[in-house]
Formats: sequence, C-alpha cells, structure tokens
Amino acid sequence: MPASAGKSETDYFLGSDSAIIRPFPVCPAPARSPMDFVGFTLRNNLFVAPMAGVTDRPFRQLCKKLGAGLAVSEMVTSNSLLYGSAKTLRRANHVGEVAPISVQIAGADPQMMAEAAKHNVDNGAQIIDINMGCPAKKVCNVMAGSALMQDEQLVGRILDAVVAAVPNTPVTLKFRTGWNLVNKNAPTIARIAESAGVRAVAIHGRTRCQQYTGEAEYDTIAMVKTLIRIPVIANGDITTPEKARYVLDHTGADGVMIGRAAQGRPWLFREIEHYLKTGEHLPPASVAEIHGILLAHLEDLYDFYGLETGVKVARKHISWYTKGLVGSAAFRREMNTLPTIEQQRQAVDEFFRHQAAAGEHLHYETTDHQDREALAA
Ligand SMILES: Cc1cc2nc3c(=O)[nH]c(=O)nc-3n(C[C@H](O)[C@H](O)[C@H](O)COP(=O)(O)O)c2cc1C
Repeated sequence: MPASAGKSETDYFLGSDSAIIRPFPVCPAPARSPMDFVGFTLRNNLFVAPMAGVTDRPFRQLCKKLGAGLAVSEMVTSNSLLYGSAKTLRRANHVGEVAPISVQIAGADPQMMAEAAKHNVDNGAQIIDINMGCPAKKVCNVMAGSALMQDEQLVGRILDAVVAAVPNTPVTLKFRTGWNLVNKNAPTIARIAESAGVRAVAIHGRTRCQQYTGEAEYDTIAMVKTLIRIPVIANGDITTPEKARYVLDHTGADGVMIGRAAQGRPWLFREIEHYLKTGEHLPPASVAEIHGILLAHLEDLYDFYGLETGVKVARKHISWYTKGLVGSAAFRREMNTLPTIEQQRQAVDEFFRHQAAAGEHLHYETTDHQDREALAA
C-alpha cells in the first residue's frame, strides 16, 4: 500500500516539512521568455520580491533594466489616514516607471483593503498585489501580512472585496506556506484565492513562524502548483542561476521571485535570465560596470529622496554592493559617517578605483553566493 493511502490533502500538510509527500509528478517548467502574466507581456518570468525599505522606485527600475520581468512595490498601507504621509506618497510614486506597475497593499479590513486597491489604481497601479507574506511585527500585530493566513474566512472576504473593487485590474496574492509547520495551509489559501478571482499567486517557501530562519522548502509550492490553474511564482532563498533552475524544475512554478539576493546585485536577474535561456553563465560583471551601476543608482536615490534622506538610504545600498568584498568592512564603516552626497560619491569612486586596480572583476572574501547572501541578509 502506498505511503499516501488514506491521507487527505490536509494530512500532507500536517507535521514536519520532511513528512510532506508530493502526490503528483511535476513537469519541469520551461524558462518563460517572454511571459504572459495577468494580461501583460513580461520580458521573462523573473520577479523582484516586494521588500519594504528596499524595492523603492529607483531599485525597481534598476532591476527591470538589468533583467527582471516585474518588480512589485514596497507594501503601502491600506489605512487611508496615512495616504498623505511622505512615506506613503513616496511609495505610491511611479513616475517614469516601466509598466506594468504592481503595487502591494497590506491590511486586514476588507473594506479598507478595497478602498486602498481603488486608491492605488487611481494613482497608477496596473496590478494590485496583496501582502499575506510579510511576518513583520508592525504588520502582524494588526493581523495583517502573513498573520492573516490564520483566518481563512477573513482571507476570502479580503480577496473578494479587493477583486470586486478593481474589476479592471488584475489582483495577485503573496503568501507563505502556512502559519506554522503544523498549519501549512497554503493549498487552501491558494484555492480560496483562485475562486475569488485572484489572477496569480507568489509563495515564499517558509511558514510565518519561521520568519527567515531555516531554509525555504519548495514541496508545498509544488503541491499548490498542481491544485490551481492560475500562475504560481516560487519565492525564497533563490540566490543563483542554478537555484532558479532547480526551483522552477522542482515546483513546476511559472516564475521565480527574488528578494535578498538582488540587494546590491541587481544584475542577478540578467544572469539568471541568460542561464535559463542558454544553460550557460554570463561572464561576471566587470568592476567598471558595477561601479557605473552603483553611481547611477545613487543619483536616482538622491533625486528620489532628496539629498538628506538620499544619503542615508544610499548607505545601505552601498553596503550591499560592497559586502563581502576584500577591504570593504573599513570602507563601509567610514562611508556610514559621511554626511554629504559629494563625500559619498567620492568615497565610492575611490573604493571602486582600488578594486579596479586589483583586477577586472570584484574579489569577494567569501566566494560562495550563499555566504554572500547570509552577509546581505
Ligand atoms: C527587508 C525586507 C522587506 C520585506 N518586505 C516585504 C513586503 O513589504 N511585502 C512582502 O510581501 N514581503 C516582504 N518581504 C519578504 C520578501 O518579499 C520575500 O518573500 C523574502 O525575502 C524571501 O525571498 P528571498 O529569500 O528571495 O529574500 C521582505 C523581505 C525583506 C528581507
């Protein structure tokens, strides 16, 4: 008798990760280039994960330029009292952004989420993404983000309300594999989403309680893919072209979503795109090119945030671009004390001139991508 005999779908998702059995064979997914996604044609099936404090307009634009098919905005609140705050206004600024513009909203009240969806569509959103994936305390304490996965009825009401509020705009949903290891209800949430009219889902291969610990698992995502017909995007710990290939093949997902590995390394998308198409690696980016990418990124940040905030926001990006590089720790310490954009630019120039003098390509103290990701986290 097979191990799965007599088990319901729920049984597969009760118990530890290792107890999960994938009941249907998964066909390797082809690289989708270009990809049809919720009514838009994307360059490929590579998605930039929404990251509060990271995926602002300059970063989204840069990732799209360097190979991402779609970049989801940082989450914006569904609380209309905050629509006028500088932060929310900035997050809702899509001027000059390459279409389609996907805006993520967060909240727990169906009516407020519906209003937020309408408000963002009126302000340029072409896709509304709903956040049920973020474990941040600020979100979960008010029973939003991934905390919502505990209340499946409420999930249904939120999705129904949002889909009805923006009938001409596709709605997508981002969530996790479940609340905790004994409540891996991603399959149920996925079905609720599909029947509510959600047009695609992205799933991070961790539970809410895991936060960012342990390793993402992809069996639950593979299971969801067999249960629904709308596109499934797999997310979590994708750091290299090979890992993207592996996750696509293992899950049968329609695309992959990448977050932390792209911090300070937005050209990762073109590396993955090339590998998925050809099975071969692009030559590594040269020091000169990375220097140029970073300088252009800094100018965009200064423009977008203004000089004072721009310098501060730029610090964390400069740290990500240089983490793991030989001699970078001292550079970062000093750079974090520099108050003006002129000094910041100059310090970056000097650091990269030294790197260029040492060779055409950057030299990392840690050579393994995984180590660099740990550093970037
Ligand atoms: C700094 C940071 C901010 C994040 N903010 C959001 C967010 O606003 N909305 C969301 O759905 N997920 C958010 N996430 C989760 C990511 O979208 C993604 O699911 C997670 O990082 C796993 O993917 P990765 O391993 O490729 O980073 C955030 C993650 C990080 C690291």
